[in-house]
Amino acid sequence: MKILGIETSCDETAAAVVADGERIRSSVVSSQTDIHHPYGGVVPELASRKHLEMIVPVVAEALERSGLEPADIDGVAVTQGPGLVGALLVGFSFAKAWASARKLPWVGVDHLEGHIHSVFLEPDPPPFPFVALLASGGHTSLYHVEGHDRMIHMGGTRDDAAGEAFDKVAKMLGLGYPGGAIIGKTALEGDPDRIRFPRARLPGFDFSFSGLKTAVNRHLRDHPDRWAEEIPDIAAGFQEAVVDVLTEKLLAAASEKSCDRLALVGGVAANARLRESVGRAAAEIGVAVHIPAISLCGDNAAMIAAAGFHRLSAGQRSSLAADVYSRAPIR
Ligand code: KG4
Ligand code: ZN
Repeated sequence: MKILGIETSCDETAAAVVADGERIRSSVVSSQTDIHHPYGGVVPELASRKHLEMIVPVVAEALERSGLEPADIDGVAVTQGPGLVGALLVGFSFAKAWASARKLPWVGVDHLEGHIHSVFLEPDPPPFPFVALLASGGHTSLYHVEGHDRMIHMGGTRDDAAGEAFDKVAKMLGLGYPGGAIIGKTALEGDPDRIRFPRARLPGFDFSFSGLKTAVNRHLRDHPDRWAEEIPDIAAGFQEAVVDVLTEKLLAAASEKSCDRLALVGGVAANARLRESVGRAAAEIGVAVHIPAISLCGDNAAMIAAAGFHRLSAGQRSSLAADVYSRAPIR
């Protein structure tokens, strides 16, 4: 079953063709980073406008690269939420129209469920159940994943998401937007132990990153003459604090559920230090960890097609009356 996936929840216009929820035939991601860069964050109206401009060429390119004709597609999956409503509407309306015109089944997919499905696009996907940490720009949550449509929320952030903290700290340091990848790169030159930032250890499986963000801000305020020279150390110290907490909680969640399979997904899963830390901690206790390729960590449509394949296979269909949503129902 060949599914066309479409994703426009934030600042990436993406389309992909995936066979049987696991084999990527094509995956095209058109990033809007350059447009939002001068503003230090995503400007919703600019995002919607750019999605409108890109949706047709991006879908055409995904089809062309897949080597398939529209007539070869068996169904369509599209991100329904959470995300920016104006941005979501572009992909959602397009998918409705594209599928309806061809009398194809189509289904709306939750963006977070999509991220979790990124692990099924890699060889040797995890069997159920497994514990997944989703760390992105909008979410930091732990799930006990019991089936393709059964993701039990174990805990999540009470304030900022991990990716959001990376973006805000990058902005404070004048490193630009989007901040995660830049902090990761800058931290390579720094000493992670020279400046120690606080780790918020909340009870259970909840997270908090706003105190850490404030601590970095305070450090800059307290050292106005010095901080510009120590940016790599600040980036490394901040990154280490986030990585420590994420690694600890993910391993603790696995232990709580007596689960020997872990998954790390979402944009922040592209962070090299986090991949290394989770990989090492899991190996020490003999737990297998599934982390998708970096191209599948950030927003993409292949993960949406993978999640949609399982929904469509289970007989689920969306109706033309369906609408997008901005907040996450599975959080
Ligand atoms: O999953 P994603 O592409 O979009 C959302 O669903 O939010 O995640 C984007 C987030 C951004 O906050 C970005 O700064 C962060 O992922 N990110 C990273 C890295 N690459 C992207 N954070 C830390 N290290 C990275 N290498
Ligand atoms: Zn995402």
